[in-house]
Amino acid sequence: MFEETLYQGKAKTLYGTSDPDELVVVFRDDITAFNGEKHDILKDKGRFNAAASAFFMELLASHTIATHFIRMDDTITMRVRHLAMIPLEVIIRNRAAGSMVKRYPVAEGTVLDPPIITIDYKDDARGDPMMNDEIICGLGILTPAELEEIKEKTRRINTILCDFFAGYGIALIDFKLEFGRYKGEILLGDEISMDSMRLWDEKTRESLDKDVYRENKGDVIKTYHTLLSRILPEIDEEFD
Ligand SMILES: Nc1ncnc2c1ncn2[C@@H]1O[C@H](COP(=O)(O)OP(=O)(O)O)[C@@H](O)[C@H]1O
Ligand SMILES: [Mg+2]
Repeated sequence: MFEETLYQGKAKTLYGTSDPDELVVVFRDDITAFNGEKHDILKDKGRFNAAASAFFMELLASHTIATHFIRMDDTITMRVRHLAMIPLEVIIRNRAAGSMVKRYPVAEGTVLDPPIITIDYKDDARGDPMMNDEIICGLGILTPAELEEIKEKTRRINTILCDFFAGYGIALIDFKLEFGRYKGEILLGDEISMDSMRLWDEKTRESLDKDVYRENKGDVIKTYHTLLSRILPEIDEEFD
């Protein structure tokens, strides 16, 4: 069923299929931070993120946002459309945290209204440098119209996800998206998971995402389990 390995990333592996328009993405148990400097293999991490990602891709599809997601082949194997990835990490921030607080004069937790989009060039060797609109268009990575389209999609996705999490007393602080081209369209690719979102309990400000691992704040697998049992109990029941 799988053809050759196309790409082994830090947390997922891509395989070709007999259909050149489709790939399978296998969510591994690897977890990394700080550009791969910190690395561990944690049982169940892959399937937790795969389950969350599949759920959010389907949620977006129900709101008419086109994504690469086709279906799950098993608990860690996602069949997707084969995109020509755009090498950008599109981040939208509802409250200041992470690199925003390290680089700029803003206190952690400050509400950013309207939300701020920041875009990094996805290139580990260069340390994912921050881009701006002129660099993105000047280097021909996107046309101005494509850049606007991606920002607009990101804002719409943010509204959908914020509304979803608000129903569970969880604040979506920020998250990262990756887009790619497919048959003349720009689709959302990669993943939406606890590795790519920053989530806080609305009341206690407890982290419910990969910051628990980044900052050695506890057992990240327990955190992922707790988050899933809160937002997707029917999916969480499938895990032991
Ligand atoms: N639908 C898709 N088609 C092609 N490539 C994809 C698709 N979705 C995600 N990717 C790419 O596959 C890789 C996923 O593996 P990951 O472990 O996240 O890698 P990385 O360490 O580069 O972030 C990423 O480089 C991502 O850009
Ligand atoms: Mg990645």
